[in-house]
Amino acid sequence: MVGSPFNGRWACYAHAGGERNATFKLFFCFPPLDGDPTVGCYGEGHMGGSTWRERLGAWKEILRTNKLVEQADSLNAEYVVDFDMEEVEKSLRKEVVEKASDTNGGRALWISKRWWRYRPKLPYTYFLSKLDCSGVAAVVFSEDLKRAYVTMKEGFPLEYIVDIPLDPYLFEIISSSGVEVDLLQKKNIHYLLKPIGSVDERQSMYKEVVLGGDVWDLLDELMSYMKNPMQYYEKEVAFVRGVLLSGPPGTGKTLFARTLAKESGMPFVFASGAEFTDSEKSGAARINEIFSIARRNAPSFVFVDEVDAIAGRHARKDPRRRATFEALLSQLDGEKEKVGVDRFSLRQAVIFICATNRPDELDLEFVRPGRIDRRLYIGLPDAKQRIRIFGVHSAGKKFADDVDFGKLVFRTVGYSGAEIRNLVNEAAIMSKQMKQWDDVKA
Ligand SMILES: Nc1ncnc2c1ncn2[C@@H]1O[C@H](COP(=O)(O)OP(=O)(O)OP(=O)(O)O)[C@@H](O)[C@H]1O
Ligand SMILES: [Mg+2]
Repeated sequence: MVGSPFNGRWACYAHAGGERNATFKLFFCFPPLDGDPTVGCYGEGHMGGSTWRERLGAWKEILRTNKLVEQADSLNAEYVVDFDMEEVEKSLRKEVVEKASDTNGGRALWISKRWWRYRPKLPYTYFLSKLDCSGVAAVVFSEDLKRAYVTMKEGFPLEYIVDIPLDPYLFEIISSSGVEVDLLQKKNIHYLLKPIGSVDERQSMYKEVVLGGDVWDLLDELMSYMKNPMQYYEKEVAFVRGVLLSGPPGTGKTLFARTLAKESGMPFVFASGAEFTDSEKSGAARINEIFSIARRNAPSFVFVDEVDAIAGRHARKDPRRRATFEALLSQLDGEKEKVGVDRFSLRQAVIFICATNRPDELDLEFVRPGRIDRRLYIGLPDAKQRIRIFGVHSAGKKFADDVDFGKLVFRTVGYSGAEIRNLVNEAAIMSKQMKQWDDVKA
């Protein structure tokens, strides 16, 4: 231990020296009394296999016998303990690894599959106070121990990122509050997200879907909300909760949702209305399950395709379907959520998207604003869009010299995307067969 002036006071260095079984020395410098800076207290001892904690304990003990504890612990302490940070880090790592073995890496694996880009940062002091009031369920440390991924027991958002300083006392606080601890290894990280770029970039990500500008505008709006739902939450602005995509069959509604799931990098729960009517499991339970998954992963999307199967007008007549329908309504309203205080806000960060080609058959109660706030009609593609759809589906295929999509467009008025795809495909099949016939003839 080395004594040195520190902020005008004298500091006691609990210098670790690194080696186990090392002889260690205690040297306390009292504040200069009567202008005599040399007054000091000197101690020497041998501590077999001591950790910094034990040495700190011993040090405190000496302080206690010298009646100096208050001076070391209080805010206006006369003495400052300076830790050997390398040793503190080593011991923190050791403790985290030991504790993490209880979870078998399960929690870290779970964390690594999450979309942390969308999680807000929590200041370290708030994190400590959350630990103090047992609000934290799990802490997963990053490999370099500089960051922790924290899952709260409840509230919104449920997950935060905390930048942690090398705090010697952190682990004690964590283990005394009974939190699940795990260590994240880099090799576990599955989702290295692409940053969300400009509008043009985003459209190029979705280049296989050809849709009107209003769809992309809505997507922009949704994504900017999803990036930071807190900004709406803080201002108490309720964002769009439900979006209905409607339009003739084969215009790309399902394709849009699938691409959104793939490209947005957001948690996405995908279901089809027909799934809820089979007899395996009650539809209402499945609806509740889907929404609870989405909420736990908020901000997230829930997509229900062919929603008319559960929210059609006829759904009310059949008692089982009615239960499913009512579960859907109450999930959209967020009323039955049992979590408590934050139920409304939790609800906000889950965006419900549904698609149907029979919008007029939907129950009016379902489509009212507050449940479905936006309706987007995806119509048949116009001439320009048809040319682009031809382009998408004929990519990588060889063409005869006289094929001109500009001309074909006039012969495909009223075609949907699916029909154009089919046309290109049929042409490919025919060309293959014709080649076979030519081969046979030759
Ligand atoms: N706008 C589009 N751009 C590119 N391809 C499209 C487009 N619309 C449809 N297609 C092609 O047609 C296929 C079927 O489309 P999709 O399943 O998305 O239609 P849908 O609107 O969901 O129809 P339905 O209402 O019958 O469910 C897609 O997989 C895609 O290959
Ligand atoms: Mg569809």
